[in-house]
Amino acid sequence: MHIRLVIADPDPVFAREISAEFILIKEIEIVGSESDWESVERRVLASKPQTVIFGPGWAKTRVLTGVEQLRAKCSDFEAILVTAEYSTELRRQAAEIGFAGVFGIPIDSTELLLCLRRSAAGSSGKQQAQKQKTGRVITVFSTKGGVGKTVLTTNLAVALGQERQANVAILDMDLQFGDVGVMLNLMPKHTLHDLVGLKSVDLEQLKGLATQFNERVSALVAPLQPELADVITPLVIQPVFAWLRQAYDYVIIDTPPCFNDNVLMVLDETDELLLVSALDLPSLKNIKLCLQTLKLLNFPREKIKLVLNRFERNLGLSTVEVEEVFQEKISVQIPADAAVQLAVNKGVPVMLEAPKSPASKAIIELSAICGVARTGDKQKEVESVPA
Ligand SMILES: Nc1ncnc2c1ncn2[C@@H]1O[C@H](COP(=O)(O)OP(=O)(O)OP(=O)(O)O)[C@@H](O)[C@H]1O
Ligand SMILES: [Mg+2]
Repeated sequence: MHIRLVIADPDPVFAREISAEFILIKEIEIVGSESDWESVERRVLASKPQTVIFGPGWAKTRVLTGVEQLRAKCSDFEAILVTAEYSTELRRQAAEIGFAGVFGIPIDSTELLLCLRRSAAGSSGKQQAQKQKTGRVITVFSTKGGVGKTVLTTNLAVALGQERQANVAILDMDLQFGDVGVMLNLMPKHTLHDLVGLKSVDLEQLKGLATQFNERVSALVAPLQPELADVITPLVIQPVFAWLRQAYDYVIIDTPPCFNDNVLMVLDETDELLLVSALDLPSLKNIKLCLQTLKLLNFPREKIKLVLNRFERNLGLSTVEVEEVFQEKISVQIPADAAVQLAVNKGVPVMLEAPKSPASKAIIELSAICGVARTGDKQKEVESVPA
């Protein structure tokens, strides 16, 4: 692999330091080092480098807006930012613009080299096209335990992959007792705990942490020991959302049955909230309180869809009564179905194990309403469904 590199910083010392770091690395050819913005633009347009490293000397807005504008003229280069302000917000902004990596100082040159290699490998036309994508974040939530959140998360991911030929990531935010790995029978080499302590995250690195389930679906699984969950804070997870949206059409998030700091952060990132209830009084009471809490949190009502799981007739409660209690329409009913339990015990999504079962058919129905406005809401489509 041959990496043509431009180094851009108002202080020429930065370029000298980076050049010295990579002097013995044969695959790297430094095709220019520029210290004023016009020269950077000219150099990028003329030399067509694979990667440009922007140093810490640029003002934040200069480098962010500058790279965005430069990309409009020439989209073929990868940008890496080195900055003294290594904040979550800056990393988020940089990821949204499409930077391949963000590094604090002092720079870890081994990590920088790895990032250069990954970004050069990924700068194909296909990757560039993916960068334009903004995936949809769908969160499956309930303040009641055991109502079927994980079953719905995993099966919805499979259904979206299958029905919309979409690339789907599952993010298991039930950090202590997450079951996504078990329900998909995964043997993960990495978990979300691997994000802790990383100085930087980039797209390829994030994809490396995901465990592939099938051609369409991969999962970022919870740590395998519950005691590791405590250190996975919103500050660790929040920066990865921009990358996830870049790389996947859908990000489906499984959650614990409570409001905690991570859940609040996830809600901030959520485009669509599937609120799961069962048809029993404790679940109904719980979801009623959950809806009230979401209202206090100013969570937009139009993002919420109610899903009734393990639905059975003759349980003494009708769906009309449920809708009255919630003051909210039920979007989808998933029937109680023995095929679900059988599939869970095999570690296979029921969608694949028993595609014709009533539960699987209802999950397809659930996937079909993802991205579509709730009945009665003004807009019909709230997203463009990926081809
Ligand atoms: N539609 C269904 N029909 C029959 N059984 C179901 C259905 N949905 C879920 N189950 C069963 O309910 C059990 C709990 O499901 P699941 O683990 O998905 O719940 P959860 O809400 O994620 O629980 P927790 O809050 O503990 O994470 C599983 O054993 C599953 O087999
Ligand atoms: Mg669960």
